Amino acid sequence: MRVPFFNYTRQLKSIEREINQAINKVLNSGRLILGDEVKNFENSFSKYIGVKYGIGVNSGTDAIKIALRALDVMPDDEVITVSNTAVPTISAIRELGAIPVFIDIKYDSTINESKIKKAITKKTKVILPVHLYGQGCNMPVILKIAKKHNLKIVEDCAQAHGTKINNKKTGAFGHISCFSFYPTKNLGAYGDAGIILTSNKKLAEKCRALRMYGMKQGYYSHFEGYNSRLDELQATILNVKLKHLDKNNKKRQKIATLYLNKVKNKKITLPDISNINEHVFHLFVIRTKNRAKLIKYLTAKNIGYGIHYPLPIHKQTAYKFLESSNLLNTESYAKEIISLPIFPELSKKEVNYIIKTLNSF
Ligand SMILES: Cc1ncc(COP(=O)(O)O)c(C=O)c1O
Repeated sequence: MRVPFFNYTRQLKSIEREINQAINKVLNSGRLILGDEVKNFENSFSKYIGVKYGIGVNSGTDAIKIALRALDVMPDDEVITVSNTAVPTISAIRELGAIPVFIDIKYDSTINESKIKKAITKKTKVILPVHLYGQGCNMPVILKIAKKHNLKIVEDCAQAHGTKINNKKTGAFGHISCFSFYPTKNLGAYGDAGIILTSNKKLAEKCRALRMYGMKQGYYSHFEGYNSRLDELQATILNVKLKHLDKNNKKRQKIATLYLNKVKNKKITLPDISNINEHVFHLFVIRTKNRAKLIKYLTAKNIGYGIHYPLPIHKQTAYKFLESSNLLNTESYAKEIISLPIFPELSKKEVNYIIKTLNSF
């Protein structure tokens, strides 16, 4: 048996007719940029998360960059976040010349909220929690800290489409939240796409202008902006796929439950999950001190895997200049993690094969 780490074509088969119809409709509509499909998606996705406004942009990276610009983040302002994340979280901060300040993580992969207070300085403007792997950060505590110190919160929800914390969706806690629809995500487009969400009208208007050269109406720039529009084709694909998101997240939870209940091997540490029903399992990340051997073994058994992420950001050449002390968990975690296949279309047979393989490692 050969089990891929991820494969979008299996899902495409089950929705191909809907997708083709939607694409044809857009192609024949005479409007390819900022039309009804984008508007519909902005409305339905913001409603799905539970916030008032959505602004479609061309990637999750741009969503973060524009969100920070809308909050007037300036060069040398500090943004509190984590080093165990995808590079774009940090590259978006750096595009504005702001300084990422790294906080260590807990072993559930999210920011250690108890260490945030100590990192706040006069330059701190934003806390940017990353809901990594589909696991929510401790937002109730982070909200309290932000309120007390008059800081803004930008949530990185690129891996958390539908994640909940005490029954409220991630993306509905911060002043602004940012989603990526990169094809591998729980809600994935068939190309690059992203969205900014907020319930603040002024911020929404500013983000909307920023995504199009700083324009509100007509060819007039109120401030310097960007070209970062979600296009009609990706929006129509996302409109189709959003209808299937909850069902697909449940399938991921089912696979995760099987892994959690059936993987029994002392050499493997299972992830620390607080609530299976609120986690959307974008990734299922185990730990092992024998990673090189496990990779060899999985490869021999034709099982795909990933590492998210092999090197914390502050260890990578581009970002070595960033201050990075006391990131002990972040550093040890990165050496041990390995991500198992967990997309909704994995068959039970495949999941059982993965479990059996892990147990005999
Ligand atoms: C945690 C995180 N933040 C930000 C991004 C950036 O999203 P995009 O690839 O759409 O720019 C990603 C995805 O790559 C991500 O996983």
